[in-house]
Amino acid sequence: MEVTDQGDAARTDTGVDPRPLRVAMLGCGVVGTEVARLLARNGDDLAARVGRPFELVGIAVRRPGRLRDGLDPGLFTDRAQDLVTRGDIDVVIEVIGGIEPARSLILAALEAGASVVTANKSLLAEDGATLFEAADKHGRDLYYEAAVAGAIPLLRPLRESLAGDRVRRVLGIVNGTTNFILSRMTEQGSGFAEALEEAQSLGYAEADPTADVDGFDAAAKAAILAALAFHTRVTAADVHRQGISDVTSADITSAREMGCVVKLLAIAELSEDGQSVGVRAHPAMIPATHPLAGVNAAFNAVFVECEAAGELMFYGQGAGGAPTASAVLGDLVAVARHRVSGGRGPRESTYADLRLRPMGETRTRYHVSLDVADRAGVLAQVAAVFAEHDVSIETVRQEQHGEDAELVIVTHTATDAALSATVEHLRELDVVRDVLSVMRVEGQ
Ligand code: HSE
Repeated sequence: MEVTDQGDAARTDTGVDPRPLRVAMLGCGVVGTEVARLLARNGDDLAARVGRPFELVGIAVRRPGRLRDGLDPGLFTDRAQDLVTRGDIDVVIEVIGGIEPARSLILAALEAGASVVTANKSLLAEDGATLFEAADKHGRDLYYEAAVAGAIPLLRPLRESLAGDRVRRVLGIVNGTTNFILSRMTEQGSGFAEALEEAQSLGYAEADPTADVDGFDAAAKAAILAALAFHTRVTAADVHRQGISDVTSADITSAREMGCVVKLLAIAELSEDGQSVGVRAHPAMIPATHPLAGVNAAFNAVFVECEAAGELMFYGQGAGGAPTASAVLGDLVAVARHRVSGGRGPRESTYADLRLRPMGETRTRYHVSLDVADRAGVLAQVAAVFAEHDVSIETVRQEQHGEDAELVIVTHTATDAALSATVEHLRELDVVRDVLSVMRVEGQ
């Protein structure tokens, strides 16, 4: 490559200043390995896009002696703190995950003058404020596109492309593991345990699937999406969370009978008066005609409803080494461009500071399934309980089960508090043998 003199900086004939931007990486699992591999493979292209080449100068891992296919063993160290504070690092990529030591290392990196790219949804959802404040204090970028929905360009569109609009609602399938399980239950009639086992054998679900199955992962992502969409600080603790382990084959069948499918949804929505935001992650029935209903297997998709833009949908691979590495490298290029040209990307925006609505105030429709005694007056008693709590019934369906009957009731929109009180009251009725399931109905 020919190098020519251009003022202070020597530049190649492609306009690339040959002085490298130094990159340090924390963690080298599935995502980190792909980041290192793609950085090496696409290095010339990335240099041309940024105006300077990248040099990966170190990778901090717990076991530096372990050989990693295709990666120079000399890059590895177990001294993460020393790596991020050595003083000449331009960008730190954090792909360790979890709260500590990731938080301390990111803070140390920012203090040492590096910009940071992270895929760490749990840390951002738990304590993003501390990281954003540190990035501000030290005048550096903190980018995190890979933290939500893997490869899908979603956070930048929310933060930048839609900055001139008003988002009303974000509705997303942001966890591939649970979407795989629910898809299998829907397509093959598998039970939850069987579908989970299949997800584990195919490598979608972890040996300990709690974070995915119990909705922690989706709740963290919901918090990050809500904060961006509504310019308000939202943490995982502000998100109402419910997992999918109680979803039964009967729920899936019942959903199908009313023209719906069951999905684990991350939802963030503005109130009618625009003064509050409700954020939640839970299984819900959505109409089979809704664009999210066709998002199956381990895919993710996020449906965004805006005042001016209308409805948008972002779809793609939400996990996996190469897809997530794509988002990490996109961020690396963005922050590197700022290092080259000066300035910073958009900062955290919390000016709206909207009230976070408790779940009890959330209004939606409900599907309630009851096992009841099959005799005169039972339906009237059940309907009276709904009426007493001001929950209006939209449809009722009854199926015979021996001496009992299953009543499937779909309500009009009601508050979560009113529906919870209704269900508690129904449990007290002698004629109600069991409340078989309660599921929200969304997307209409
Ligand atoms: N465990 C997540 C999922 C991937 O199943 O979607 C990373 O966010």
